[in-house]
Amino acid sequence: MTRTSWLQNKHIVLGVSGGIACYKACELTRELGRRGALVQIVMTEAATAFVSPLTFQALTSREVRISVLDAKAEAGMSHIELARWADLIIIAPCTANTLAQLASGQASDLLTTLWIASDCEKAIAPAMNQQMWKNIQTQENLTHLVDRGVAVIGPNSGLQACGDIGSGRMTEPTEVVNTLESQLTRGPLAHRKVLITAGPTHEPIDPVRYLANRSSGKMGFALADAASRLGGSVTLISGPAQLETPAGVARIDVETAREMLIAVESSLGDTDIFIGAAAVCDVRPAKFSTSKLKKSINKLSTIEFTENEDIIKVVANSRQRPTLVIGFAAETDSVLEKAKEKLVSKSLDAVIANCVANGDIFGQDNTQVTLIQNDMENPLPPGTKAEVAMEIMTLISEFLSKRI
Ligand code: C5P
Repeated sequence: MTRTSWLQNKHIVLGVSGGIACYKACELTRELGRRGALVQIVMTEAATAFVSPLTFQALTSREVRISVLDAKAEAGMSHIELARWADLIIIAPCTANTLAQLASGQASDLLTTLWIASDCEKAIAPAMNQQMWKNIQTQENLTHLVDRGVAVIGPNSGLQACGDIGSGRMTEPTEVVNTLESQLTRGPLAHRKVLITAGPTHEPIDPVRYLANRSSGKMGFALADAASRLGGSVTLISGPAQLETPAGVARIDVETAREMLIAVESSLGDTDIFIGAAAVCDVRPAKFSTSKLKKSINKLSTIEFTENEDIIKVVANSRQRPTLVIGFAAETDSVLEKAKEKLVSKSLDAVIANCVANGDIFGQDNTQVTLIQNDMENPLPPGTKAEVAMEIMTLISEFLSKRI
């Protein structure tokens, strides 16, 4: 079964330090791009003597960053913002000098500054002359980094550019990327594809009016964030919501229930977990009026409605049915009973029930839910939507591991 790469939509800073293996960083950039990563190149000054920044700019369609003192670049995304943006910093090639700087915590240029300014995943692919690699100080520097959780990829042995034979050749780009995927794909949802709907849908009546509901999308976005943190490859299909896309999550924006269904169906292949967190409008106006309807009550009260398809029901009965299909039940009364009815009528594996009476929950930052599976009711502790989402995703990942 093909899986979406863990690198899909991940924000990657590829640091290039100055050695002859710089040319391999070009192919590495392409390989990361092929697997769906968003790559920002950061070069040391020395690296620019080996490969032109223009090469990397053409490969990434992003301006290459070199100096921490570049006022124009800093005005766009400061080095601190860049450090926060990164899900992974990989330095390839990593020279003996850069390795020493990383080990001693220096911030002598943009790359080393980013390294200490970010708490993201980190990896290096060392490349240097075999004697420099064997050097006791280099090896101590390396041990320092390994002890701090840095993934070290390579180096390989063989004939070196300088004519020596030994260890110090940078690992080939495809192998670097394969190693990144296998070493960094941690967490219970590693290699799992998660598809989540979120937010309201808007059903247009005429050019100025639409039918909608009070969903903010916060819960669905929090679930997407939690699933991504647990290592999943996450796609979020969102109705109109004023929220930032969680890191590492692929987002598809839609407006109507029909658009949401189309996006879900085209993203469904190989999905392990589907979560319908969207508050989909049950109906839409049967006809869209291209001119604004007159405001008279007679005119507006004659709007005819037609039912929207139940997206989660379509997913649960699809030939491509994910292993787990999980719905929400936002109710104002008899919450648990109604949630159990949905579990059965929509052929779901679990339902997350919450009470939305008195305007609670919708749009708020806190929530309280009960997870219902078969006859089991599991009331989760109240908390922020981020906390509750992490609790839900952890339970769902345990549920998934028992199913497969
Ligand atoms: O039937 P009700 O709308 O209360 O069910 C809520 C659950 O069904 C949620 O998981 C929601 O995302 C999903 N749903 C859907 N498509 C619809 C209506 C609801 O996927 N048209």
